[in-house]
Amino acid sequence: MDKLLITGGRPLHGAVPISGAKNAALPVMAATLLAPGVHRLRNVPRLRDTRTFAKVLELLGAKVSFDGNLCSIDSTGVNSVEAPYELVKTMRASIYVLAPLLARFGAARVSLPGGCAWGPRPVNLHLAGLQAMGAALDIDHGYIVGRNVKLKGARFGFDVVSVGATAQLMMAAVLAEGTTVLENVAVEPDVTALGDVLVACGARIEGLGTRQLTIQGVTALRPIDTTIIPDRIEAATFAAAAAMTGGCLKLERVVAAHFEAALRKLEEAGSTIERAIDAVTVTGPARPKAVNVVTQPFPGFATDMQAQMIAVCAIADGTSVIEDTVYLDRFTHVPELARMGASIELKGNVAVVKGVERLSGAQVMATDLRASASLVLAGLAAQGETLIDRIYHLDRGYEALEQKLGALGARIQRVN
Ligand code: UD1
Repeated sequence: MDKLLITGGRPLHGAVPISGAKNAALPVMAATLLAPGVHRLRNVPRLRDTRTFAKVLELLGAKVSFDGNLCSIDSTGVNSVEAPYELVKTMRASIYVLAPLLARFGAARVSLPGGCAWGPRPVNLHLAGLQAMGAALDIDHGYIVGRNVKLKGARFGFDVVSVGATAQLMMAAVLAEGTTVLENVAVEPDVTALGDVLVACGARIEGLGTRQLTIQGVTALRPIDTTIIPDRIEAATFAAAAAMTGGCLKLERVVAAHFEAALRKLEEAGSTIERAIDAVTVTGPARPKAVNVVTQPFPGFATDMQAQMIAVCAIADGTSVIEDTVYLDRFTHVPELARMGASIELKGNVAVVKGVERLSGAQVMATDLRASASLVLAGLAAQGETLIDRIYHLDRGYEALEQKLGALGARIQRVN
């Protein structure tokens, strides 16, 4: 199994191109099922998750090809409505095929994703929303099964702001009969970008970027031709790398507004940040200052940056308090960071981080995607060598991470 070997203690310098967003690419890949035809998606990151999603689409009968970051999907010949457990269990986002299959074929058989490393992660809102739109869904041997479904416009309010359920219901509503009103929707850039893509294909959606969407169903959509938005979490992770190593990084091809909450916290921690139209330059302090963070749905501080921010706070001057209100159990990085000398006390969903002057390199284990990123950051700032095991998690969500870091002066290599 591949591992990452990092020799820490070098400030990172230079310019780094930020890739397309995984979490924006996956729902757009699912949306290709809504319209039979040949779809073109540019700036799709080369990641294990985009490849897994391609496999899901191929099993349904689509033809998928990659040419660098261009992904072409021919969804004309889709002839199956089943997304099997073997694939869904490796990537929860596979559940995005549910609404498009119901909308196009009136039927679907999609495995329930189950729990994950951060706790239960239910899909009740996806199901309740589709049921409100007239889909009779059964749970049969671990599968969500819909037959003879005719989606109809409805009014549905989310109890909890959910990225996945908002994207799911948007894809259901665009081809439903009548008008759908969705309340308390997610406004993450990935969700808004999906809405923009659907509108460009002929969907009628009002209110994108606000908490209420009004969607008039249409009878057909045109194939997608789009460019995936930049990955705000990858960008914020590199920003944290500059902050932690006392370096200076220019993040290229980014939208600062998409990760403004993270940038503000890094500024509060002592970084200097320059925002340009499509670039952000982050200069790290000699040592970060302690900051308090509460994760929230967008535009708040992203839960997907919580682990990386704990790594920053681990070497900060002072005590930081970091609370995750979105995923209460998402702290598997804490014991691994402790192996590197971090002083972190976990009280439920709150981490109290007493900054230490220096972390020391150690053998650690990656437990999920963003937890792995926090270990990479810690390794870059630590004294000595850090060996990170199970880095397949990183390959799910960071395109060419070690090449990008290596080009910025990090001593990092993949070892077997
Ligand atoms: C997406 C992101 C993930 C990110 C998360 C929150 C993708 C592929 N993944 O995950 O990286 O961490 O948003 O920003 O885009 N919930 C329910 N019932 C549901 C659905 C969600 O109670 O049916 C709860 C969840 O337990 C969680 C909260 O809603 O507490 C937010 O989850 P959600 O936004 O749905 O996360 P995902 O879409 O799965």
